[in-house]
Order: sequence, then C-alpha cells, then structure tokens
Amino acid sequence: MLFTSNRHSMAPEKTAVIGLGYVGIPLSALLASRGYDVVGIDLLEDRVAQINRGKLPLKGDEPGLGDMLSRAVKRGKLRATTSYDACRDRTVIFVCVDTPIDADKRPDYSRLEEAVAGIGRSMQRGTMVVVESTLAPGTMLGIVTRTLERESGLKLGKDFKLAHCPERVMPGRLLYNITTYDRVIGALDKQTASRAKAIYSKLTKGKLHTTDLTTAEIVKTAENAYRDVQIAFANEVALVSEKLGADAFEVRRLVNTCPFRDMHIPGAGVGGHCLPKDPWLLVQSGKASSPRLIPTARAVNDSMPFHVVDLAVDALRAAGRSVEDSVIAVMGASFLQDSGDPRNSPSIPVIESLKCAEGLRVHDPYLDKIAGVSTLKDAKKALAGADLAIFMVSHKAYKTLTPATLKKLMRTPIVVDGRNLFDTEKMRRAGMIYRGVGKKVI
Ligand SMILES: NC(=O)c1ccc[n+]([C@@H]2O[C@H](COP(=O)([O-])OP(=O)(O)OC[C@H]3O[C@@H](n4cnc5c(N)ncnc54)[C@H](O)[C@@H]3O)[C@@H](O)[C@H]2O)c1
Repeated sequence: MLFTSNRHSMAPEKTAVIGLGYVGIPLSALLASRGYDVVGIDLLEDRVAQINRGKLPLKGDEPGLGDMLSRAVKRGKLRATTSYDACRDRTVIFVCVDTPIDADKRPDYSRLEEAVAGIGRSMQRGTMVVVESTLAPGTMLGIVTRTLERESGLKLGKDFKLAHCPERVMPGRLLYNITTYDRVIGALDKQTASRAKAIYSKLTKGKLHTTDLTTAEIVKTAENAYRDVQIAFANEVALVSEKLGADAFEVRRLVNTCPFRDMHIPGAGVGGHCLPKDPWLLVQSGKASSPRLIPTARAVNDSMPFHVVDLAVDALRAAGRSVEDSVIAVMGASFLQDSGDPRNSPSIPVIESLKCAEGLRVHDPYLDKIAGVSTLKDAKKALAGADLAIFMVSHKAYKTLTPATLKKLMRTPIVVDGRNLFDTEKMRRAGMIYRGVGKKVI
C-alpha cells in the first residue's frame, strides 16, 4: 500500500518533511502512522530534539496529535534532523516551511528558497517534491523550479517531479482537518498527480481534486482571501450596527434566514500566519494587477483591534475613568481560541495601545509572553481588581465566567467584548458597563 505508482520503481516511498511547524508536524506524524518512513528537517535544534524525544513542540489543544507523534518516534518511523543530507535517499520530499510577506506586503521567499535549495543540493533523480506551504501564484514554476534545477543540475519533468498540495489545517484541529478535508493537488503531469494521490489517499478521507500547479496556488490563496473578505464584510456590518444602536449578531441571524446568504461572524480582528498574508500572496504575486476589494478587506480587518481600543476608551469614559488611571486586563493573547499561536494576534495592537494604563495585565492559558508583557495563567487573578476587561479571544476558560462573577471580581465593572462572549441584556442586569464589537450600547 505504500508503494509508489511511479512507473520507474515499485519500492516503498521514503519521505522527508521540511519545516516542522503547524503543518509539517501533523503531516510527519500522519505519514509515519500510515507506515511511511519519515525524516523531518527543521533549522531549529530545540524543535528537532523535542520531536526526537517524542514530544509535541506546539502549544494549545491538539487532540490526538501528541500521542500520534510519540508513537511514530517510538516505532522508529519518524526521526528529525537539521541536516538536508537526510534528503539523499528520499523519494518524496514535502515542503512545509513558513511563507510570510515582507513590510511591503510582498511575498518573502527567503525560507522557501533556502529549503528548496537544500533539497536541490541533495535530492536524487526521480524525486517528487511536494510543496504544502501556501504560495503566491507562479511560485512553483518560478522560484521553486529555478532553484531546484540550479542546485541539483537536474531537469524538471525529465529528472524530478513537482506537485503543490496546499494545506488546509487550522490550530486546534490539525489532525482532524488533515485526515478529513478534501485536498487540491496541483501536479506537473498526470503521472505525478497519480503518484501524489496514492499518498494523500492514505492521509485523508476527503476527496482528492487534481489540477495544474498554478491553479492549485490560486485556489489556496483565493480560499483564504475569500474568508478574509467575508469576515471584513461582517465587521463592516458590525460597525454600522453599532452606530445605529442595533445588534450585529441579531442582524446576522436574520440575514442568514435569506437563502444563499452566509454572513460571517464579526470580531476583534483577524490573526494567524495565514489569513493576514494569503490575500496579499494572491494579489501581489508579481503580475500586474490593480486589486481593490482584497486590500480594502485587509484594511477593515486590520482596523478592528483599534476599534476595540476605541470601545475601551469610550467605556472607561462612561465610568468617569481614563486609560491612564485604570487597571486593564486583556483576556486572550493567541490569535485563536485554545491555541498557543500568537502570530499576528489582534491582541498585540491592543496591548501596545494600552501600555500607558496604570496597570496592564494579559491573561492567556497557552502563552507565556506577548508584546513584551508576561501573561497570567489564572483568569480570575487577571480580573481581580481590574477596572476594565477586554475579551479578545474566546478561550474555553472564559466560557464559565458569568456577569455576576465579573461584577464581583472587578474594581470597576467594565467589559469590552471582542468575541460575542456575553449577552448584552444579562450584562446590563448585572450592572456591568458593556461594549462589544457589533453590540448595542446599553
Ligand atoms: N498554520 C496553519 O494553520 C496553516 C494552515 C494552512 C497552510 N499553512 C501554510 O503552511 C506553511 C507553514 O506554516 P506553519 O504554520 O506550519 O509555519 P510554522 O512557522 O509553524 O512552521 C514552519 C517551520 O519551518 C521551519 N523552517 C523555516 N525555514 C526552514 C528551512 N529553510 N529549512 C528547514 N526548516 C525551516 C521553521 O523553523 C518552522 O519550524 C505556510 O506557508 C502557511 O501559510 C499554515
């Protein structure tokens, strides 16, 4: 079952995974659990050492992944290293390095190029390189091909094959998504498509859709740009609803009673490694285009943490206070509930904007530090004696907090809700001063 459909050989595929982060770790563990021999390669020595001890180096709740990883290491199916020499005897090499954007919102290819150059220097003839990282359209047939050919002296098509199977995972659901979601496989040719399908059919119960390399690149960046635009739309409706004294969540519920409508949930901002940059990868891929909608959506979503700060200032003023004479608790620092991923977290601009407070506390069960501030791990300790609590993330630790508990714990009962955690009427009845994204002012 692990044999390649590559017509040159019927030997089992030997795999390598470059980049052992949110994407590369679940892929490595899953490949190993399906019987493949896997070498993981990362630049971070600590991460490599931790994996070789069978320990998951990701924070946050990742159901099933820790056990799968430790079993894979124990059974000798997965080992990690910092050396690209390990690619020499591999037949399939997956690339899962991070692909950020630079300060001008253009693709930063440095890590990808370094990874692909490392592969090129050590790969053998017949290798299939599968890039799972998200790419600006044109990257597979551009930088990836050029770098592999230059470093290996081999020719694409004749000597090695390329596929692009962008990942659809999300922190908190890494194993679930990777084993159940449909996958899009962009491949150089039909033979490569079936060779890649032979592997992915063992990883996911979802359907496998094959296409060309560039289409797969556009699909991945478009699916995240689509989500970003949808969230921006919901955020814009939230801002309008607030101004008109309506509740955006009630508006959303009623909008979605109309067929073919699926309004998203507004909130305190969009973070993570992917959504803030994938729309830029789509529109800034180097080809001339004049994007308007997608950059505007990005600007709306980037403005939401500052809107939260405005709500905080307004709520403090309603209680006769200011930021400077208040103790403020920012509740939640990761970009997503119950995840330890702080990348592009909307909490960062909020914390930075409120550093002039008399006291600033940040609570997060999964992170030790953010924006230079050490976090508290106990929600009730963070709230005790505070004048204002700003809920930025819907961690499960907050689900048991009631308006009455907040009122009892806090010095001044002010809450700004960025994630629709509380009911407006219940907060009013408990005597709280309550503001929130998309919420009616009471
Ligand atoms: N995080 C997600 O939920 C998610 C979901 C879908 C797609 N993606 C995409 O997958 C890719 C990886 O994202 P991630 O979140 O796993 O990133 P990550 O930062 O968690 O992991 C990347 C890993 O690659 C390593 N690395 C960087 N350069 C390297 C090199 N030259 N050689 C070896 N290792 C190197 C880093 O040390 C790090 O451990 C990105 O393109 C991202 O857009 C991520």
